[in-house]
Amino acid sequence: MGERSVGPRSPGQKQVLFLLLVLLSILATGCAEQAPLDYLNHPEGPVAQRQDELWDIVFAVATVIFVLVEGLLVYTIIRYRQKPGRKAAQFHGNTKAEVVLTLIPALILAGIAVPTVRAIFDLAEEPAGAIPITVVGKQFWWEYEYTEHDVITANELHIPVGRPVRLRIEGTDVIHSFWIPRLGGKQDVVPGRINYLTLEASEPGEYLGQCTEFCGLSHANMRLKVFAHPMEEWLDWVADQQQPATVDLASEGAKLFFEGTCVNCHAISGTDASARSGPDLTHFGSRTTFAGALFENNRDNLRRWLADPPREKPGALMPDYGLSAQEIDALIEFLLSLE
Ligand code: CUA
Repeated sequence: MGERSVGPRSPGQKQVLFLLLVLLSILATGCAEQAPLDYLNHPEGPVAQRQDELWDIVFAVATVIFVLVEGLLVYTIIRYRQKPGRKAAQFHGNTKAEVVLTLIPALILAGIAVPTVRAIFDLAEEPAGAIPITVVGKQFWWEYEYTEHDVITANELHIPVGRPVRLRIEGTDVIHSFWIPRLGGKQDVVPGRINYLTLEASEPGEYLGQCTEFCGLSHANMRLKVFAHPMEEWLDWVADQQQPATVDLASEGAKLFFEGTCVNCHAISGTDASARSGPDLTHFGSRTTFAGALFENNRDNLRRWLADPPREKPGALMPDYGLSAQEIDALIEFLLSLE
């Protein structure tokens, strides 16, 4: 046995101090005040509420188990620590202990399974009167099609308060995951599969979401926003979206759009532009954000974006078209006129 120093900073103490600092910094990451993606204890609708209740049950059970098991462990380590002259007891197997230690966890799991399975089945059911919306996850943005209302939009999802929406979730390229933490929604987007998710907001407001399955360079930049409106307001929004775009075809920006390459990927309803590989731009000017809800929709951001999309958002499929400053300004005017 080596001699141990007794100074205030012995190697053992340093390690303990280091571990404590690591633990403290991990704990500190949970202290953010402005954290719109925090969802524990922030359920904002009946789906999220149901999930939160389930979490509360499981957390309570897990806490009791943690305290019991760790308490016993620490007690045993201290009580039966090595002492000079004491020999450890030697034995092999203990059927009684093994049966008990298998039965207790099995019973706990069976108990937790009852509310869990019930919630899974309840939430999987399509509620009556739900509004159907098809969500398509693409690298790196979201397309929404309001199938009953003939509306297609991107990244910003508008829903009415107090009415469930039934999302049919599809993918075209790689696996994504659609997640709006405070509304309790998370569902994988799997190419070739159709998944469903029910959401409902109880209060009007903005809810942020995020792709939560690594899907390429701009996975972290694949965001989304949900706007929950009172029903009347939502119906007005739908009516606005149903209008074809008001397009000044004689403008310089429109010429660039329809005679250039933009039209090969983007749709504008009421015009010849009907491609679906990029976001539908029919009412682009009415959106608060663009490019996977990553940038606020304003002239400065659009200027930077149009100058070189993949520089602003790595992996973006829209290439740098080498547009001149004048062309960019004309396109910005055109895009913002699409209200
Ligand atoms: Cu899409 Cu990550």
